[in-house]
Amino acid sequence: EHAEATAPSTAQVLVASNRGPITYTLGEDGTLDAKRGGGGLVSGLSAVDDKLWVCAALGDGDREAVRRGVGEPGVRMLDIDAGVHADAYNGIANSVLWFVHHLLYQTPVEPVFDAEFRRQWAAYEAYNRAFAQALAEEAGPEAAVLVQDYHLALVPGMLRELRPDLRIGHFSHTPWAPVDYFRLLPDDIAEQLLRGILGADRAAFLTRRWADAFIGCCTEILGGTGRTRIGVHGLGADADFLRRRSREADVDERMAALREQVGEGRKTIVRVDRTELSKNIVRGLHAYRTLLETRPEWRERVVHVAFAYPSRQDLAVYRDYTAAVQTLATEINGAYGTESWTPVVLHVKDDFARSLAAYRLADVALVNPIRDGMNLVAKEVPVVSDQGCALVLSREAGAYEELGEDAIVVNPYDVVGTADALHEALSMGAEERTGRTKRLAEAATALPPQRWFLDQLEALRQE
Ligand code: G6P
Repeated sequence: EHAEATAPSTAQVLVASNRGPITYTLGEDGTLDAKRGGGGLVSGLSAVDDKLWVCAALGDGDREAVRRGVGEPGVRMLDIDAGVHADAYNGIANSVLWFVHHLLYQTPVEPVFDAEFRRQWAAYEAYNRAFAQALAEEAGPEAAVLVQDYHLALVPGMLRELRPDLRIGHFSHTPWAPVDYFRLLPDDIAEQLLRGILGADRAAFLTRRWADAFIGCCTEILGGTGRTRIGVHGLGADADFLRRRSREADVDERMAALREQVGEGRKTIVRVDRTELSKNIVRGLHAYRTLLETRPEWRERVVHVAFAYPSRQDLAVYRDYTAAVQTLATEINGAYGTESWTPVVLHVKDDFARSLAAYRLADVALVNPIRDGMNLVAKEVPVVSDQGCALVLSREAGAYEELGEDAIVVNPYDVVGTADALHEALSMGAEERTGRTKRLAEAATALPPQRWFLDQLEALRQE
C-alpha cells in the first residue's frame, strides 16, 4: 500500500494536523510551486529538533507532490482518497464539529443526523485511522505525538491501541461546546469523540473555560476523564516576528494606500477575519450602521476598514455568508456614503502585509466573534499598533480571559451594545488608549508560540 521507502522510525516529536506547514500548487506547465504557511504551530515547532509533521494532502497540487515524491524533510503528507477527505473535512469536521463547538446551528431545522451523516462519519473514521497508522509507523520508541484539533479527535484513541509506548497529547484550537449543546450529537458519536481524545495522556485547550466544558462533557456522558490529564495553554502573539514584519517596506506601502482610501483626519475601525460564520462580521456591520444612525456626529469622521478573507468556500453556508457581508457593506455605503466619504472599505483578497498595515493604523479594533477558541487578531493589534488602539472585544472569545480588563467588552449578539462600545472606543482619550494598549500587548505576548509549544511537550513528558 505504502509507496514510500520505509525509513527507520526515529522521530522523537511528531505533530499531526489536517493542514500542514506547506501547500503545493500545480502550474499549467506541470510545475509544482511550494508555499509555506505561518501560524502558532509553525513557529512553535521551530524550537524543536528531530521532529516530523504529519498532515493531509489538501488539493491536487499536494496530491501530485506526494505522487512525485516531492516533499520536505520533516513533513509527511498523507494522500488520503479525495472523496474520503472531503467527507471527513467538509462533511464532519467543518459542518458538524465546528458547528457544535461554535454553537452555529439553527436548531429548529438543524442538525439532521441522517444516513448521509453516517456515511460521512465512516469517512471521518477512515481519515483519522490513516493518520493513526502513519503516526504509528513514523514515531520512534516512546516518542511524543501532539495531535491537533477537531479534525483528528479519534486519533489519540486509535494510536494508543497501535502504539501503547507513545506519549500522546491532543490540543483543541477551538472552543469546546457546553454539554447540553454537545448532546445534539448522536449518543454513540458523542461518546466516540470523547473517548477518542481521552486516548491521549493529556488533552489541552486554549482557555480554562474550554477545558472545563470538555471535563463537563466527559463527566456527564462518560462519568469522568479517566486517566487523561487536562491542560490549558493560552497561545500568545509572536511579538518578535510581528514587530519586525510590520515594519517592512511592503507594509509601509500598504499603509500609504489605506490612508489614501480612508481620507485625511478620519478615524478607523479595523477588523480582520476569515469570512467565517463564528466571526460575526454581519452583526459587526449592523453595529457600525447603528453607530452612524444614532450618532450622526461620526458621519464623515470614521471609516470601517473590514478585511474579510474567503474561507471554506466549498460550503454553501460560507458562500452565502460571504455574500451577506458584501451586500451589507454595499448597503451601508449606499445609505450613508458621500462623494468624499466611503463609510465601509471592504477587502476580500487575503493580503497579510495589508492586514499588518491596518493593525498599525487602527484607532479601534473590532473583534466580536460569537465564539472563538482564542482569536489572535485581538492579541496582534496591540503589539504592532502605531499610536495605540482601543480594542472592542467579545466576551465569547478565548482572548477575553487574558485581555478582558483593558478591552471594551461586548456581548456579540447585542448590536446596540456593540455600537455603544464602538462609540466609547472612538472617544477614548489618547493617554488612556496608550496605557491600555501597552497592557494589552503585555498580556497578549505572555506566552509566545515557542514557549507555548515547549510547555506542552514538557508537560506531556512529565509524569
Ligand atoms: C482556525 C481554527 C483552527 C482550525 C483552522 C482550520 O484557524 O482556529 O482551530 O484548525 O481554522 O482552518 P482550515 O482553513 O484548515 O479549515
